Amino acid sequence: MVRIAINEGELIQISATGGTTLLEALYERGVNLPSSCGGQGSCGLCKVRIEGASGACLPLERPWLTDEELAEGTRLACQVRPAGDVRLHLDKALLGAREHTVRVVARENLTPQIVGITCELPGSDAIDWSPGQYIQIHLPDSPGAPSHMRRAYSLASRPGRSRAIEIEVQRTPGGIGSGYLIDGVRLGDTVKFSGPYGGFERRRPDLPLLCVAGGAGAAPVRSVLLDAKERPGGGGVVFLYAAPTFGEVPHAEELRSLERDLPGFTFVPVVSRLGGVPAGLPPGGEVGSIIDVLDRRVEQGARVEVYLCGSPRLVDGCSRVLAEKGIPSGQIHHDRFV
Ligand SMILES: Cc1cc2nc3c(=O)[nH]c(=O)nc-3n(C[C@H](O)[C@H](O)[C@H](O)COP(=O)(O)OP(=O)(O)OC[C@H]3O[C@@H](n4cnc5c(N)ncnc54)[C@H](O)[C@@H]3O)c2cc1C
Ligand code: FES
Repeated sequence: MVRIAINEGELIQISATGGTTLLEALYERGVNLPSSCGGQGSCGLCKVRIEGASGACLPLERPWLTDEELAEGTRLACQVRPAGDVRLHLDKALLGAREHTVRVVARENLTPQIVGITCELPGSDAIDWSPGQYIQIHLPDSPGAPSHMRRAYSLASRPGRSRAIEIEVQRTPGGIGSGYLIDGVRLGDTVKFSGPYGGFERRRPDLPLLCVAGGAGAAPVRSVLLDAKERPGGGGVVFLYAAPTFGEVPHAEELRSLERDLPGFTFVPVVSRLGGVPAGLPPGGEVGSIIDVLDRRVEQGARVEVYLCGSPRLVDGCSRVLAEKGIPSGQIHHDRFV
């Protein structure tokens, strides 16, 4: 038996046998660290700072950890099997992530590849969440797959305290989580999730905001925009969104009406090919790669805060362009949908 203490005040204390991973041990005790790969060391979401007998960092963990993180004892909880007592340093917000069981009350095909799912908490239950936060859907155990599989989905509705939450799920061919939510879950079914996690906290609210997303990356940006509509700032917001065609832009009408309702808001759909819109290119739209469009639109040394969401390819490509433009890394936030 080993003891695992959490934070300075020993908020909770749990036990684990030597062979159990830290992630599993924490799940058993209701401490819901984020994870998107079922503990296989391939999402990097389960990072935790550890003091004590955590053993040597495994080669599988190394690509996820910066030199500074490694030096301060950060590890992937899914790869650590404590050999003795350890103390974890966990963000208090993580300890606030709770498990909920919700009922699916609405489903809508937002595009041929993206399905919107609305879930309601039971009774008078509600959760508090902020723009850009995500939840982890608990997938049912299936034969041959690791247990405790979870997938992250961003909250897409207006943030605040609410009984109903909306997520937007993009179909991943052969994907377990998206397959479960799109094909397996029906109206009236219950779904388990933990959260909320993460979030988008502006460090420079005085600067204009540039949101860049592709596919289901529109979901967290929608929560940011709906929040901005309620509490407009002074800097203006531009949203560059990559879709295959103009016919595949989720919430296209809502985004156009936001251009009237949210002062300083501009929506720029960027499509890889013309199609789905008989009249051709809508006003403000672009055809081509979103990375090239970003490169053209952002000036060298631009004073802007940026929120990137979507595939690792989009996030990494856009991050490179922004670094070349001299945008400080502290002004670039990202959600990589791994
Ligand atoms: C913070 C965050 C927020 C996110 N928000 C959203 C969101 O709002 N909406 C959204 O749709 N997604 C979101 N994601 C992504 C989401 O969590 C899932 O990663 C995504 O839905 C794919 O999961 P899946 O289970 O369907 O696919 P997986 O089963 O994980 O498969 C992914 C791909 O890998 C292939 N694959 C799987 N296993 C193997 C293997 N052993 N060998 C070879 N290939 C394999 C599959 O065929 C598939 O093509 C988010 C991710 C993060 C980290
Ligand atoms: S759970 Fe994915 S890396 Fe640990």
